[in-house]
Amino acid sequence: MSCLTVYLESDAHRPELRTADPALIAAHLAHNGILYERWTADVPLPASADADAVLRVYAAPIERLTEARRYCTVDVVRVTPETECVAALRGRFLDEHTHDEDEARFFVEGAGAFYIHLKSRVFRMVCETGDLLSIPAGTPHWFDMGAKPHFTSIRFFSRPDGWVSTLTGDTIAARFPCFEPDAVRAA
Ligand SMILES: [Fe+2]
Repeated sequence: MSCLTVYLESDAHRPELRTADPALIAAHLAHNGILYERWTADVPLPASADADAVLRVYAAPIERLTEARRYCTVDVVRVTPETECVAALRGRFLDEHTHDEDEARFFVEGAGAFYIHLKSRVFRMVCETGDLLSIPAGTPHWFDMGAKPHFTSIRFFSRPDGWVSTLTGDTIAARFPCFEPDAVRAA
C-alpha cells in the first residue's frame, strides 16, 4: 500500500503523520514541491512485459509529464533479488544525496521507499504500483529498495549525459527505519 509518513528530522520513532490516502499524500507532497500522481494502465500489463511494452501502455501520461517537466529521455529498470550485485545496487542509494536534475520515477509494479529531507522533516514515501513521484533537483533524499528488492519503474531524465548522485555527507539515513515491505504492509 502506498503510504506517506512524515517525521521531524530529530525523531525517527514518532511520526507526525501517516497516511495512505492518495489525495492527502499528493497534497502534503505538493505543499513541499514534490509531485505525486496515481497512474493506471489502460490495458493489463503482463508481469513479463518488456520495456517497449511498458512504455507503450503508459505512453499518454509519459508524454504529458515529459512535456510539462521538459524531461528528454525515459527508460525502464527492473530489479529483483536475482539482479546482479543487488546488495551493492541497494547500497548506492542508501545514503543521503542530491541530483542536479529531478528524480522522477513511476512504479509499474513492486515497491520501494523514498526518504525526502526537507524543512527539518523527513517525508518517507513508500511507492507501489501506479505511483509517480518526482523529487526536485537539489533536494536531499535517499532510496531503499529493501533487502529483497522487487520493482519495475520508468525513469525520467532531463539531461542526455546521465544522472549523477552527490552525497551530502549527512548520516541521517542511518537513523531512519529501513524499507521492509512486509512490515509496512502489516502496519
Ligand atoms: Fe536519488
